[in-house]
Amino acid sequence: MAANPANLAVEALSPAQAAAELERLAAEIARHDRLYHHDDAPEIGDAAYDRLRRRNDSIEARFPDLVRPDSPGLRVGAAPSEAFAKVTHSRPMLSLGNAFGDDEVREFVERVRRFLGLGEGETIDLVAEPKIDGASAALRYEQGRFVLGATRGDGQTGEDITANLRRVHEVPPELTGDGVPDVIEVRGEVYMPLADFEALNQARAAAGEPLYANPRNSCAGSLRQLDARITASRNLHFFAYAWGEVSPPFGGSHKDALDRLAAWGFRVNPRTELCGGVEQALAVYAKLAAERASLGYDIDGVVYKVDRLDWQQRLGTVSRAPRWAIAHKFPAERATTTLLAIEIQVGRTGALTPVARLQPVTVGGVVVSNATLHNEDEIARKDIRVGDTVVVQRAGDVIPQVVEVVKEKRPKGAKAYVFPHECPVCGSRAAREEGEAVWRCSGGLVCPAQAVERLRHFVSRDAFDIEGLGEKQIAAFWADGLIRNPADIFRLEARQGDEPIAKREGWGEKSAENLFKAIEERRHIALDRFVYALGIRHVGETTARLLARTYGSWERFEGQMRAAKDRDSEAYRELIDIDGIGPKMADTIVDFFAEPHNVEVVEELARETAPADFETPQGATPLAGKTVVFTGTMAAMTRAEAKARAEALGAKVAGSVSSKTDFVVAGADAGAKAAKARELGVETLSEAEWLEFLGAG
Ligand code: IVH
Repeated sequence: MAANPANLAVEALSPAQAAAELERLAAEIARHDRLYHHDDAPEIGDAAYDRLRRRNDSIEARFPDLVRPDSPGLRVGAAPSEAFAKVTHSRPMLSLGNAFGDDEVREFVERVRRFLGLGEGETIDLVAEPKIDGASAALRYEQGRFVLGATRGDGQTGEDITANLRRVHEVPPELTGDGVPDVIEVRGEVYMPLADFEALNQARAAAGEPLYANPRNSCAGSLRQLDARITASRNLHFFAYAWGEVSPPFGGSHKDALDRLAAWGFRVNPRTELCGGVEQALAVYAKLAAERASLGYDIDGVVYKVDRLDWQQRLGTVSRAPRWAIAHKFPAERATTTLLAIEIQVGRTGALTPVARLQPVTVGGVVVSNATLHNEDEIARKDIRVGDTVVVQRAGDVIPQVVEVVKEKRPKGAKAYVFPHECPVCGSRAAREEGEAVWRCSGGLVCPAQAVERLRHFVSRDAFDIEGLGEKQIAAFWADGLIRNPADIFRLEARQGDEPIAKREGWGEKSAENLFKAIEERRHIALDRFVYALGIRHVGETTARLLARTYGSWERFEGQMRAAKDRDSEAYRELIDIDGIGPKMADTIVDFFAEPHNVEVVEELARETAPADFETPQGATPLAGKTVVFTGTMAAMTRAEAKARAEALGAKVAGSVSSKTDFVVAGADAGAKAAKARELGVETLSEAEWLEFLGAG
């Protein structure tokens, strides 16, 4: 069986394998972007996501000629490169959730209505803005002077491209007019007009230089030039549409704020419209979709923002996107091609994912040769067979998908696809859980596809974060049997035997010493990181934090999880009572600890390391570490908002009242839970008292 390039270290890849890997990673990253931004159902944590991106970057660094036009590294959202100084954004630069149809936009507005507890009759004003397909930038002004300009980067940290941004039209060097704030960080999109993009590519073609795939890539490329004169030659423009830190802060509405930005010298997109409700906003979308081709620059949809800033404030953010804005994307582009083969990829969690290998075809300006087939049921539902002519679609950054089969063109004798029941990587039995669409390899830590992936997850930034131990090193140590499970990492120095790491290829005395030092430093680790690092299915960073906050210490967590194997136990009840842990998630956690092999590995690990007890981030707030239960209806905020506020202050929110509950917050018409609280002598707060509490926090 040929090696799957996904399991090889970057160093070991041949050019052909590297090309295949880059293609796979572009698709995989785009799929996760969609799961995260659009479906609100991420399958992997930030660390695993970053790992995919880093692998992509290292392959690109080794094979610069293979960088794809749809490379994730060329998209906004890429991790900062080393050439520019890093800038930590004073407030994170958020991304946006996506809506792919009018109904999804209406649902968005209804979510806003529910969250804020607004009545049916209340109008939610929205500002509709063209979604510019360029590169976002943050411009900081102090006392009216432009002092710092940065890329978005990963949203937390970007790159200092001040010198280049000074060469962008409509980035005013100074702000003028009344009421310019002492400090203001204006955010918006840098873009390249289509005519300039075409002229640039013509010039590059004439000079024998590689062409840019689309205006967005050429814009991002132009902004990241080390020589600002090159940026200056590129005719870039800027539309302002948001802001970060502002002092004094803006009040009122989004539209007013945009008007103020315009008055101080920024360019705000002239097609921005204030809409009295969702139907008006959808009409703006229809209009912009029709005008799209004549704008002179690329837009890939329309962004709707709740106009009232006090509502924006209350709505806050979830994951990395605001609850108060959404991107309504233009529809996907489609093409027809032949399905050459169906291949199975094995992920870190052992999921077997079918991928269509296609006759390469251009869809919306990008060559597509792979598409996801999701799972067994999707293949069966669409009756997709090898040799079929298929319709492929892609929308923006989203991974291409097979929409349907052109049945009339099916070759004679094409057979229905039979999904494999064993793992193509390790040969272990694959199984499909009840109610699940996915087949999973049962090989766990013995399956190379999973073992290396799990170890990589284990050492990744949001988990153990061991510097110097990247995927390449893990893969090599795994292959040589030096690291077979997480605890082995902490025994690495002792395990080297007569073949010291310092003598291995790519290592020296200094780097080996640094590695051992980095490992030593991580023997003491925060509990939530420890839990997250275990790679338990469904347990991302958020859940890991929730578990750490609830159980406090590793001993208690592990003990309770093992006790929870008995579904009638108090321990199991405590687990499913955590607001934010559903029965499915609870089961995967409990099952993880019910598997002796896992317990063995994890206990070994806990002996090597010392997970620290969980510290609530806001140790000083009166809610820190307290368990709160909400019941009844509140007038000032919805349940969702109340829960978000309580958690932000370090509280655990539970679904039912028990002797462990610290407070019950009883709104109007509180029923059984309030009664139970009285019975158990649990302190009960009225809504007014609760609001006072928040004020105090
Ligand atoms: S608002 C708080 N408005 O789209 C929300 N973004 O997919 C921040 N974009 O990263 C973004 N036009 O680069 C916003 N009118 C617009 C936009 C816009 C383009 C980009 C921006 C953002 C991305 C999210």
